[in-house]
Amino acid sequence: MGLEATSESGGPRKSPLAGPLLPINRARLASPLKCDYRATMKAKIVLLPGDGVGPEVTGQARIVLEAVARGAGHEFSFETQLIGGIAIDETGEPLPPDTLVACKAADAIMLGAVGGPKWDDPNAKTRPEKGLLAIRKGLGLFANLRPVRSYPELIDSSPLKLERIQGCNMLILRELTGGLYFGKQYREQTERGLKVIDTLEYMDFEIERIVRLAFELARGRTKKLTSVDKANVLESSRVWRQVATQVKADFADVTLEHQLVDSCAMRLVTAPTSFDVIVTENMFGDILSDEAAVLTGSLGMLPSASLGEGKLGLYEPIHGSAPDIAGKGIANPVGTILSAALLLRHSLGLEAEAASIERAVELALAAGARTKDLGSNNPLSTSGMGEAILAKLN
Ligand SMILES: NC(=O)c1ccc[n+]([C@@H]2O[C@H](COP(=O)([O-])OP(=O)(O)OC[C@H]3O[C@@H](n4cnc5c(N)ncnc54)[C@H](O)[C@@H]3O)[C@@H](O)[C@H]2O)c1
Repeated sequence: MGLEATSESGGPRKSPLAGPLLPINRARLASPLKCDYRATMKAKIVLLPGDGVGPEVTGQARIVLEAVARGAGHEFSFETQLIGGIAIDETGEPLPPDTLVACKAADAIMLGAVGGPKWDDPNAKTRPEKGLLAIRKGLGLFANLRPVRSYPELIDSSPLKLERIQGCNMLILRELTGGLYFGKQYREQTERGLKVIDTLEYMDFEIERIVRLAFELARGRTKKLTSVDKANVLESSRVWRQVATQVKADFADVTLEHQLVDSCAMRLVTAPTSFDVIVTENMFGDILSDEAAVLTGSLGMLPSASLGEGKLGLYEPIHGSAPDIAGKGIANPVGTILSAALLLRHSLGLEAEAASIERAVELALAAGARTKDLGSNNPLSTSGMGEAILAKLN
């Protein structure tokens, strides 16, 4: 190991691989803060509804958070800010400075989704998705946790066979601030035509911190970690594998397997229960976690948490702005409501309240509550699904 880069101050940035542990609040990340259910707390939550179905689904998550706060005596204050396409329309920028300032001052952030055909012009000066990348980078949120599980009640909603998905319960960790999405991009007119370049960059310590977190999370589960790369082709993947193997030395109780991303994509649908914790780089994680959504029956079901070194986290469903159904009141709010549960767990340390939301979702599904994407003949609206979950909150 021992890659070196120039730091912002101009000096060499040393790899911490051989040194002491990185200054990550690992206890919080690996096992959420312990909480006293009777203790009450004040928390400032910034809402970034964004575009498309974003405002519809974050609206339901807010109602659930307010109900939890009322029930447990907490005081949550909400501030809504702009991001994405709507921010471009109103300010010219996908992440206005006011939004970043408000997010930095918050205890947690709840995001809907950004993007849509209105802002898809390939020659546009900026794009909604830039706002998302900028907020992750601006807040140092390097780890995206995406829990994926199958619900017995929804097994019929999945296109996969029952015996394959029954009991599936995995955690995908996606690196969030490096790789192709943050490398230099440019176009160059050459004699042979237009040349277009994306670059995939990682520092070894960026790999180490996410892999280390994955080991810690695996330790709290079934002690089995799959590190996904494309080491047979990509140099960045070869270093990824090398770092993962090196970090393994600190986790004798956790088994580590390496898997190529292409065969991982196949195994996700042929033997999903063979995974527990998966860790991978930015783009592979983006794609694999959408694929994993078929295990739950709908993209609308999956939550995510983006965490950094402190308490602040950004919580959002893994789906996009779903422009095809936006404004119809039929989007599934479950992924966003489950993201609110992750917010309570990871940023506020309210484990019991987080679990009560997850339980309410299970009970609502067991009672037959379904939105259209879950294949119901008599589907609930977005707010109807929210109400069904609220009714099951204790
Ligand atoms: N984190 C984000 O904000 C994010 C993530 C992915 C895509 N996007 C953006 O979203 C836009 C649309 O992208 P896409 O169509 O590839 O992906 P998408 O996730 O928006 O939609 C894919 C399919 O899933 C359905 N779907 C998504 N969420 C749903 C929900 N809650 N309930 C019911 N059905 C749901 C949609 O109707 C669509 O058929 C693009 O501009 C893309 O860049 C944003």
